[in-house]
Amino acid sequence: MCGIVGYIGRGQAQEILLEGLKRLAYRGYDSCGIATYNSGELVLRKALGKVANLEALLNEQPAEGSVGIGHTRWATHGRPSLVNAHPIRVGACVVVHNGIIENYAELKDELLARGRVFETDTDTEVIAQLIEEGVRSGKSPEESLDEALGRLRGSYAILFFCLFKPEALFLARKDLPLVVGRGRLGLVASSDTFAIASFVEEVGYVPDGAVVVLQGESTKVFREKSGAESLTFERLLFRDMDMEKKGFKHFLLKEIFEQPLALMRTLEAYVNEDLVAFDSLTHLENKNLNDLDVVYLIGCGTAYHAAMLGKCFFREFAGVEAVSEISSEFRLRGYLNPKSCGVLISQSGETADTLAALKMLQKAGIPSFAITNVAHSTLARSTPALLTMAGPEVSVASTKAFTTQVLVLYLLALWLGLRKGRIDPLTLGSKLSTLRGLAASIDHTLNRWKEVQHLAGGLLDAKYLVYLGKGPFMPLALEGALKIKEIAYVHAEGYPAGEMKHGPIALIEPGVRVIALLDANDGVHRDKMLATIEEMRSRGAEVFLMHTGRLGKECVFPTLALPSVACPFLATISVAVTLQLLAYAVAVLKGTDVDQPRNLAKSVTVE
Ligand code: AGP
Repeated sequence: MCGIVGYIGRGQAQEILLEGLKRLAYRGYDSCGIATYNSGELVLRKALGKVANLEALLNEQPAEGSVGIGHTRWATHGRPSLVNAHPIRVGACVVVHNGIIENYAELKDELLARGRVFETDTDTEVIAQLIEEGVRSGKSPEESLDEALGRLRGSYAILFFCLFKPEALFLARKDLPLVVGRGRLGLVASSDTFAIASFVEEVGYVPDGAVVVLQGESTKVFREKSGAESLTFERLLFRDMDMEKKGFKHFLLKEIFEQPLALMRTLEAYVNEDLVAFDSLTHLENKNLNDLDVVYLIGCGTAYHAAMLGKCFFREFAGVEAVSEISSEFRLRGYLNPKSCGVLISQSGETADTLAALKMLQKAGIPSFAITNVAHSTLARSTPALLTMAGPEVSVASTKAFTTQVLVLYLLALWLGLRKGRIDPLTLGSKLSTLRGLAASIDHTLNRWKEVQHLAGGLLDAKYLVYLGKGPFMPLALEGALKIKEIAYVHAEGYPAGEMKHGPIALIEPGVRVIALLDANDGVHRDKMLATIEEMRSRGAEVFLMHTGRLGKECVFPTLALPSVACPFLATISVAVTLQLLAYAVAVLKGTDVDQPRNLAKSVTVE
């Protein structure tokens, strides 16, 4: 987490840093700050909370200078406070850092024993202290940085400058992304290309483990295995990120309503008439797909829920065992099936645990690929990638990225099923033709907005919420609960409906609301779900049934009947969208910060 940005050039650093930080706010918004160099002085400005607060401060107290660094923080070590906000200054040196220094306590003890005085509770301060100790003892900033890096354990992207050599900006990275952009105004460094896209024409990615020194127009590289002496730049292929709400109150609502378009674009990218094609998967096609024992579907949070749905599709259509794995848990696996393949799912393509899972697969020689929404992300640059065509997702809660991931997984299952002879071309053709109704089906779902708002009003006084589902609706229950937790701060849990009587039913009492999800066309699921609902009601819970398909029974409890759809896959997407709307409606009624909920960050770049 945390976003960093740096500038050295002919313009005023403040403007570029501030604009960059606004675009990096998705990485954390506990506090932010910038440091510039101006006529022999180091100027530091920090604010608690969002970048707007820093902007207000800079309006009153500008930070002049054409060299500078900035940071927006998601607190890991030390509570959010002005003292702990970055940039962290120690003497003549000032540092911003994204990542975690695992051995910071040990280094801090060592530095304290040498008489160094600490001001913050951050792990970052040990970096600044080590560098400052080096330059103060007469070493060059390059040498001091190099030695400091040699002492660090953990992951980092670091920017620093110092009064001993203020005409240079120093960059270092290990495991976390760092990009340098070159443009008319000079050089801009950042955690994310989007943050600097409007200022630069070309970008160069800092190699993992390397140090880069920006000075004038030069970009000297050190500690680089390949021996490269300067950064390699490539033309930036996109100009800017869509940061407009386009008349919607929140990015989240805009992104929910963008789903028909996002899904149709994703469909067009991989489906042509009756064919599904994944050009970037030739490395898999060259392997004998019949040799595949298992597919590992890996992700975190919402992406993990997409993996769970993918597992259902793979088992049904692909004729291959699939398992869904949480990235951070996957990494603890003692055994990997050598006849396997890994699918890494991530909206941002920067999630640290998912990247680490990829490294683990690559080390074991297991073919892998990614499903990601960001073409220039670390994940997409590290392995063949299938892009979801959701467009930029700004709101912290994932919506359109999720449904497009689910669509790609569904297409993959069909693609594999055809290759393995599990489904025939006719069946594939008919499944693909129902997908042409995807946009219309979501539009109908979105038209239920008023009913969803009404349902939301009835949830406000709930003690807590339980979401129940079976089969593909089970991951949706988990996702619905996650969504309402993160944006509306409502305590909610998702469960497989059949699991309730194995323990969680002990929590059911008056005041608890149950959201039961049902595809009523599925006879087996319907009867079992209706039985579970009765068990909940008889213990005092109020139940809302959200269903696709015809119920065929009169219910004595409130129901939300979703528009009829042509196939179970469309039902899945329709329920997913409705649950997103429900979480949004509750969040708005509760007045939470919908797009940037407390304690969260869009991109989780620490393990
Ligand atoms: C989604 O609403 C969450 N904010 C979060 O669970 C997210 O899906 C997770 O952090 C994974 O992110 P990624 O898709 O960018 O890897």
